[in-house]
Amino acid sequence: MDLYEALYTTRAMRRVRPDPVPEDVVRSMLDAAIRAPSGGNSQNWRFVVVTAAETRQRLGELYRDAFAILKETVYKDLWERARRTGDEAALRVQRSSEWLAEHAAEVPMWLLVFSRNDPTGASIYPAVWSAMLAARGHGVGTCLTTILGHFKSAEVFELLDVPSDRGWVLNAAVSVGYPLGRWGIARRRPVQEVTYQDRWGRPVPWTVDEPLYRPD
Ligand SMILES: Cc1cc2nc3c(=O)[nH]c(=O)nc-3n(C[C@H](O)[C@H](O)[C@H](O)COP(=O)(O)O)c2cc1C
Repeated sequence: MDLYEALYTTRAMRRVRPDPVPEDVVRSMLDAAIRAPSGGNSQNWRFVVVTAAETRQRLGELYRDAFAILKETVYKDLWERARRTGDEAALRVQRSSEWLAEHAAEVPMWLLVFSRNDPTGASIYPAVWSAMLAARGHGVGTCLTTILGHFKSAEVFELLDVPSDRGWVLNAAVSVGYPLGRWGIARRRPVQEVTYQDRWGRPVPWTVDEPLYRPD
């Protein structure tokens, strides 16, 4: 696959089929992940591939509980406002997130990502993104989620036998599966609204009004 197609179309693909993810795809995702940079090449990461039905069942329950907490706290005002104002983009994210929470146990694979000695996460998220890009290259959808780490970390550690005294932190739980929906280019605020030239606040002398990558 073209590099730019992968970069532009790797979206939060939450709605996926229950079909298993083939082992060669799993291997490719992890092999890509460990090529990513980390500070001092420390590679202070561990990955747990969750496919066993009973583990996914429990993980799914934990994800649903974590999502319920998120809805009542961090996203409460945001999603209420979105409903009031009819903010369709925000409501789409909400509907898709609800779908994942409802179907978390049926997602065929979860990739749980742990790191240590990395307080900013700067050494782990490149690896996570590389795994997601590799999956995209195989036509497999992913969604990076963090709510299990925020709200159900102790429970996940217990479920997966993660040692709790070695400094590991749960950074991400990536859902993985063949998409139900279609791939598309991610919509974002344009570059010129978020980029400055030489000084904070000074506009760049160019604009990018349409995505520079277009599928054939
Ligand atoms: C740090 C981080 C945490 C995220 N956590 C969650 C999550 O817990 N649950 C979820 O459904 N999506 C989560 N997402 C996915 C974002 O909502 C998604 O990347 C964003 O809405 C853009 O989606 P798009 O690429 O499909 O446009 C997370 C993304 C990032 C980068």
